[in-house]
Amino acid sequence: MTMAAIKQGGALNSESRRIVLAQVAGFCFGVRRAVEITLGERMRSAGCMTTIGPVVHNTQVSARLQAEGIEQVVSVDEVASGTIVISAHGASPQIKARAKEQGLNVLDVTCPFVTKVHRSAKQLLEQGYQIILVGDRGHTEVVGVIGAIESRGGEVTVVSAPEEVESLDLGPRVGVISQTTQYSSVFEQVAAAVRRRVPDVRAINTVCGATEELQHAAVNLARQVEVAIVIGGRSSANSRRLRELCEAEGVPTYQIETADEIDEEWIEGKSTIGLTAGASTPDWVIEDVARRLNFGSLPEVWNLAHPDEK
Ligand code: F3S
Repeated sequence: MTMAAIKQGGALNSESRRIVLAQVAGFCFGVRRAVEITLGERMRSAGCMTTIGPVVHNTQVSARLQAEGIEQVVSVDEVASGTIVISAHGASPQIKARAKEQGLNVLDVTCPFVTKVHRSAKQLLEQGYQIILVGDRGHTEVVGVIGAIESRGGEVTVVSAPEEVESLDLGPRVGVISQTTQYSSVFEQVAAAVRRRVPDVRAINTVCGATEELQHAAVNLARQVEVAIVIGGRSSANSRRLRELCEAEGVPTYQIETADEIDEEWIEGKSTIGLTAGASTPDWVIEDVARRLNFGSLPEVWNLAHPDEK
């Protein structure tokens, strides 16, 4: 991506500050779809609606859903009636079955790209491969995939770095898949480390396109600014990776959830400030931050594009 691929938020203002927006930022297809379906169901139905964990990893989105009367709980056991919403990150079949046993309606807004990870894992199991999932232990998506495979009598080994492959007990056939929001580079390194030890390896890169677009745009942004601000939930895996990528470019980088967290010291004396946002960060939060950085108004040129719109 070139300089032209970075959108620039207006000319230098009186304070000589320029806000540079990443070419793509914020809501991906799967998050937008999950929020729209959930709110659409809310409009149609007056009954209780509850999400198991957040629908997407963003506190402001959760608050907005709560304002519409959509509650959030940790476990399906806490829900007595109505509809439960399975988040964009998916869930294990055991959770869905338990909800049905309890007589609940299930609204499944799992992102289709997460469903693809489940499908790939099941294929590998059926074909007799030992399964390695490159991902973050404990992440909702990872827990869901493990549950799906365990419900079929299989096992999943979660690996977060290629160095971990050395100590694994590996058979002759190994399948490698990935959490959707990982780094493709780490997935490829893990697959290569497995190939060095195992004769039959089937690697299916299930990192989603939106993740890759956001990551490329963040790297290009970081190369052009003096300080980078990543807007995204603290529990958002993809927002954390955007921060790590900007930091790796040697740029001071700060991750915030809202404009109120901006510390003036970070931007003092800086003439170019980069802005990007994770896949679960809504536009209104991004715009709020841009206004705060740009003395109360949006930069003159403001073309916020999402990862699947370019
Ligand atoms: Fe889906 Fe990728 Fe977004 S998996 S929820 S499109 S980050």
